[in-house]
Amino acid sequence: MKMIHAIIRREKLAAVKDALDAVKCPGMMVWEIVGHGKQKGITEQFRGREFKVDLLPKTKIEIIVSDSQVKAIVEAIVRTASTNKIGDGKIFVSPIEDAIRIRTGERGDTVVL
Ligand SMILES: Nc1ncnc2c1ncn2[C@@H]1O[C@H](COP(=O)(O)OP(=O)(O)OP(=O)(O)O)[C@@H](O)[C@H]1O
Ligand SMILES: [Mg+2]
Repeated sequence: MKMIHAIIRREKLAAVKDALDAVKCPGMMVWEIVGHGKQKGITEQFRGREFKVDLLPKTKIEIIVSDSQVKAIVEAIVRTASTNKIGDGKIFVSPIEDAIRIRTGERGDTVVL
């Protein structure tokens, strides 16, 4: 199993969620976060002065999936979250040791299939 951590533009959440439904994503956690990447936020003008805004609002989606689903889910996010401009976000993939469905006690990747 893997955990997919996708940081996307807030306004892309609805489109990404629709695309994830279409590729049978088993579940998701959605977080409203602030952060920055390479550009360290943006510099904004306000009343003639420049202000550095270091942390910009983004949305983080976390999905735990079996290894076989990773490719389709990552592709669906990249396709729908992209505007080809800086700040489109990033996707990180990390290993997951185990999963347990509390209701049944079942373990392993059938929990997220
Ligand atoms: N190395 C990182 N570690 C943790 N979070 C990150 C990292 N890079 C980016 N992020 C998260 O992703 C969000 C969007 O990053 P962003 O798309 O601006 O990345 P970038 O590297 O600057 O790429 P781009 O040049 O396309 O803007 C950030 O606000 C932050 O939440
Ligand atoms: Mg950036």
